[in-house]
Amino acid sequence: MLTLRYLGHSAFEIRSKENVMLIDPFLSGNPAAAAKASDFNDVKYIFVTHGHGDHIGDTVEIASGTGATVVANFELCNYLGKKGVQCHPMHIGGAFSFPFGRVKMTPALHGSDIIDGENVIPGGNPCGFLFDIGGTRIYHAGDTGLTMDMQLLEPEHVKVAILPIGGNFVMDVNDAARAVEFIRPEIVIPIHYDTFPVIQADPREFERLVGRSAAVKIMKSGDMLDLSA
Ligand code: NI
Ligand code: MN
Repeated sequence: MLTLRYLGHSAFEIRSKENVMLIDPFLSGNPAAAAKASDFNDVKYIFVTHGHGDHIGDTVEIASGTGATVVANFELCNYLGKKGVQCHPMHIGGAFSFPFGRVKMTPALHGSDIIDGENVIPGGNPCGFLFDIGGTRIYHAGDTGLTMDMQLLEPEHVKVAILPIGGNFVMDVNDAARAVEFIRPEIVIPIHYDTFPVIQADPREFERLVGRSAAVKIMKSGDMLDLSA
Protein backbone atom coordinates (compact mmCIF):
# COMPACT_ATOMS: atom_id res chain seq x y z
CA MET A 1 0.00 0.00 0.00
CA LEU A 2 1.09 3.54 -0.67
CA THR A 3 -1.08 6.57 -0.01
CA LEU A 4 -0.56 10.31 -0.02
CA ARG A 5 -2.78 12.48 2.15
CA TYR A 6 -2.71 16.24 1.68
CA LEU A 7 -2.76 18.08 5.00
CA GLY A 8 -2.86 21.60 3.54
CA HIS A 9 -0.23 24.12 2.35
CA SER A 10 2.89 21.94 1.73
CA ALA A 11 2.15 19.21 4.26
CA PHE A 12 1.60 15.57 3.33
CA GLU A 13 1.29 12.26 5.08
CA ILE A 14 2.74 9.28 3.22
CA ARG A 15 1.67 5.83 4.34
CA SER A 16 3.56 2.83 3.04
CA LYS A 17 3.26 -0.79 4.14
CA GLU A 18 5.50 -0.32 7.18
CA ASN A 19 5.69 3.40 7.75
CA VAL A 20 3.89 6.65 8.36
CA MET A 21 5.82 9.68 7.19
CA LEU A 22 5.13 13.38 7.18
CA ILE A 23 6.49 16.11 4.93
CA ASP A 24 6.59 19.73 6.16
CA PRO A 25 4.00 19.25 8.94
CA PHE A 26 2.74 22.81 9.33
CA LEU A 27 -0.53 22.21 11.19
CA SER A 28 -0.79 24.63 14.15
CA GLY A 29 -1.51 28.08 12.71
CA ASN A 30 -2.20 26.66 9.25
CA PRO A 31 -5.69 27.82 8.25
CA ALA A 32 -5.89 24.92 5.75
CA ALA A 33 -4.64 22.17 8.07
CA ALA A 34 -6.54 18.88 7.78
CA ALA A 35 -5.12 17.49 11.03
CA LYS A 36 -3.63 18.45 14.38
CA ALA A 37 -0.16 17.60 15.64
CA SER A 38 -1.76 15.40 18.32
CA ASP A 39 -3.46 13.28 15.62
CA PHE A 40 -0.12 11.69 14.81
CA ASN A 41 1.15 9.04 17.21
CA ASP A 42 2.64 6.53 14.78
CA VAL A 43 4.90 8.71 12.63
CA LYS A 44 8.31 7.18 11.89
CA TYR A 45 9.90 9.90 9.75
CA ILE A 46 9.37 13.61 9.22
CA PHE A 47 10.90 15.28 6.17
CA VAL A 48 11.54 19.01 6.43
CA THR A 49 12.39 20.93 3.25
CA HIS A 50 13.59 24.15 4.92
CA GLY A 51 13.55 26.23 8.08
CA HIS A 52 10.58 28.52 7.41
CA GLY A 53 7.74 28.30 9.92
CA ASP A 54 5.19 27.13 7.35
CA HIS A 55 7.37 24.03 6.75
CA ILE A 56 9.08 23.19 10.06
CA GLY A 57 5.63 23.75 11.57
CA ASP A 58 4.90 21.19 14.30
CA THR A 59 7.99 19.07 13.61
CA VAL A 60 9.46 19.39 17.12
CA GLU A 61 6.18 18.56 18.85
CA ILE A 62 5.37 15.57 16.65
CA ALA A 63 8.93 14.19 16.70
CA SER A 64 9.16 14.61 20.48
CA GLY A 65 5.83 12.86 20.99
CA THR A 66 6.43 9.95 18.63
CA GLY A 67 10.21 9.52 18.58
CA ALA A 68 10.06 10.03 14.80
CA THR A 69 13.34 10.65 12.99
CA VAL A 70 13.54 14.01 11.27
CA VAL A 71 15.24 14.02 7.87
CA ALA A 72 16.51 17.47 6.92
CA ASN A 73 19.66 19.27 5.90
CA PHE A 74 22.67 19.25 8.23
CA GLU A 75 22.05 22.76 9.56
CA LEU A 76 18.38 22.19 10.39
CA CYS A 77 19.37 18.92 12.05
CA ASN A 78 21.86 20.80 14.26
CA TYR A 79 19.05 23.11 15.33
CA LEU A 80 16.45 20.36 15.80
CA GLY A 81 18.95 18.10 17.56
CA LYS A 82 19.37 20.78 20.23
CA LYS A 83 15.60 20.63 20.74
CA GLY A 84 16.00 16.95 21.61
CA VAL A 85 14.73 15.65 18.28
CA GLN A 86 16.30 12.58 16.67
CA CYS A 87 17.63 13.52 13.24
CA HIS A 88 19.06 12.04 10.10
CA PRO A 89 21.04 14.81 8.40
CA MET A 90 21.49 14.77 4.64
CA HIS A 91 22.51 17.33 2.06
CA ILE A 92 21.80 18.41 -1.49
CA GLY A 93 22.47 15.67 -4.02
CA GLY A 94 22.85 12.99 -1.39
CA ALA A 95 20.64 9.92 -1.24
CA PHE A 96 20.10 7.34 1.47
CA SER A 97 18.30 4.01 1.60
CA PHE A 98 15.90 4.03 4.55
CA PRO A 99 13.98 0.88 5.55
CA PHE A 100 10.92 2.11 3.59
CA GLY A 101 12.81 3.22 0.47
CA ARG A 102 15.39 5.55 -0.97
CA VAL A 103 15.34 9.32 -0.56
CA LYS A 104 17.39 11.87 -2.44
CA MET A 105 17.72 15.47 -1.34
CA THR A 106 17.20 17.76 -4.33
CA PRO A 107 18.08 21.45 -4.79
CA ALA A 108 15.54 24.23 -4.20
CA LEU A 109 15.97 27.93 -4.90
CA HIS A 110 14.71 29.64 -1.75
CA GLY A 111 15.74 30.59 1.83
CA SER A 112 15.81 28.46 4.95
CA ASP A 113 16.44 30.64 8.03
CA ILE A 114 14.71 29.67 11.23
CA ILE A 115 12.93 32.23 13.38
CA ASP A 116 13.18 31.07 16.99
CA GLY A 117 11.76 33.74 19.30
CA GLU A 118 14.01 36.78 18.92
CA ASN A 119 16.68 34.82 17.07
CA VAL A 120 17.21 34.22 13.37
CA ILE A 121 19.19 31.01 12.90
CA PRO A 122 20.74 30.10 9.54
CA GLY A 123 18.97 26.98 8.27
CA GLY A 124 21.34 25.91 5.51
CA ASN A 125 20.19 25.23 1.97
CA PRO A 126 16.50 24.64 1.24
CA CYS A 127 15.69 21.39 -0.54
CA GLY A 128 13.15 19.12 -2.09
CA PHE A 129 12.90 15.34 -1.69
CA LEU A 130 12.76 12.58 -4.29
CA PHE A 131 11.31 9.43 -2.75
CA ASP A 132 11.50 5.97 -4.22
CA ILE A 133 9.10 3.79 -2.26
CA GLY A 134 8.78 0.31 -3.72
CA GLY A 135 9.66 1.69 -7.16
CA THR A 136 7.14 4.56 -7.01
CA ARG A 137 8.89 7.91 -7.32
CA ILE A 138 7.42 10.92 -5.58
CA TYR A 139 9.04 14.35 -5.83
CA HIS A 140 8.15 17.06 -3.28
CA ALA A 141 9.77 20.29 -4.49
CA GLY A 142 9.58 22.18 -1.19
CA ASP A 143 9.55 25.95 -1.71
CA THR A 144 11.38 26.90 -4.87
CA GLY A 145 11.52 29.06 -7.92
CA LEU A 146 11.76 27.44 -11.33
CA THR A 147 15.25 26.01 -11.78
CA MET A 148 17.09 24.33 -14.63
CA ASP A 149 18.05 21.66 -12.07
CA MET A 150 14.53 20.28 -12.40
CA GLN A 151 15.55 18.95 -15.83
CA LEU A 152 17.73 16.46 -13.96
CA LEU A 153 14.55 14.83 -12.63
CA GLU A 154 13.20 13.84 -16.04
CA PRO A 155 15.23 10.59 -16.29
CA GLU A 156 14.15 9.68 -12.74
CA HIS A 157 10.66 8.73 -13.99
CA VAL A 158 8.76 10.69 -11.37
CA LYS A 159 5.23 9.36 -10.92
CA VAL A 160 3.96 12.18 -8.71
CA ALA A 161 5.44 15.67 -8.62
CA ILE A 162 4.26 17.96 -5.83
CA LEU A 163 4.90 21.57 -6.90
CA PRO A 164 4.27 24.99 -5.35
CA ILE A 165 2.18 27.31 -7.55
CA GLY A 166 1.30 30.24 -5.26
CA GLY A 167 3.86 32.76 -6.56
CA ASN A 168 5.44 35.58 -4.52
CA PHE A 169 7.75 33.26 -2.52
CA VAL A 170 7.76 30.38 -5.00
CA MET A 171 6.83 29.49 -8.58
CA ASP A 172 3.56 30.82 -9.97
CA VAL A 173 1.26 28.76 -12.20
CA ASN A 174 3.23 29.66 -15.34
CA ASP A 175 6.61 28.67 -13.95
CA ALA A 176 5.17 25.57 -12.28
CA ALA A 177 3.76 24.51 -15.67
CA ARG A 178 7.25 24.96 -17.14
CA ALA A 179 8.61 22.83 -14.26
CA VAL A 180 6.21 20.07 -15.36
CA GLU A 181 7.78 20.22 -18.84
CA PHE A 182 11.20 19.74 -17.23
CA ILE A 183 10.23 16.93 -14.85
CA ARG A 184 7.69 15.07 -17.01
CA PRO A 185 5.82 13.40 -14.12
CA GLU A 186 2.71 11.25 -14.65
CA ILE A 187 0.75 13.19 -12.04
CA VAL A 188 1.31 16.68 -10.64
CA ILE A 189 -0.21 18.03 -7.43
CA PRO A 190 -0.25 21.82 -6.97
CA ILE A 191 0.48 23.08 -3.45
CA HIS A 192 1.50 26.20 -1.48
CA TYR A 193 -1.35 28.44 -2.67
CA ASP A 194 -4.38 30.20 -1.11
CA THR A 195 -3.19 29.52 2.47
CA PHE A 196 -2.41 33.22 2.87
CA PRO A 197 -3.64 36.27 0.88
CA VAL A 198 -0.23 36.84 -0.75
CA ILE A 199 -0.14 33.40 -2.40
CA GLN A 200 -3.49 33.30 -4.17
CA ALA A 201 -3.46 31.11 -7.28
CA ASP A 202 -5.95 29.27 -9.46
CA PRO A 203 -5.18 25.54 -9.70
CA ARG A 204 -7.60 25.28 -12.69
CA GLU A 205 -5.42 27.78 -14.54
CA PHE A 206 -2.40 25.61 -13.67
CA GLU A 207 -4.27 22.56 -14.99
CA ARG A 208 -5.01 24.42 -18.23
CA LEU A 209 -1.36 25.44 -18.64
CA VAL A 210 -0.10 21.91 -18.00
CA GLY A 211 -2.52 20.62 -20.63
CA ARG A 212 -1.74 17.06 -21.65
CA SER A 213 1.81 17.05 -20.29
CA ALA A 214 0.68 15.46 -17.02
CA ALA A 215 -2.47 14.60 -15.08
CA VAL A 216 -3.13 17.47 -12.67
CA LYS A 217 -4.54 16.25 -9.38
CA ILE A 218 -6.01 19.17 -7.46
CA MET A 219 -6.22 18.02 -3.86
CA LYS A 220 -8.27 19.68 -1.16
CA SER A 221 -6.79 19.61 2.30
CA GLY A 222 -7.61 16.19 3.74
CA ASP A 223 -7.85 14.46 0.34
CA MET A 224 -6.13 11.12 -0.16
CA LEU A 225 -4.42 9.76 -3.27
CA ASP A 226 -3.92 5.99 -3.45
CA LEU A 227 -0.73 5.09 -5.34
CA SER A 228 -0.89 1.35 -4.64
CA ALA A 229 -2.14 0.40 -8.10
NI1 NI B 1 9.64 29.01 2.57
MN1 MN C 1 6.60 28.25 2.35
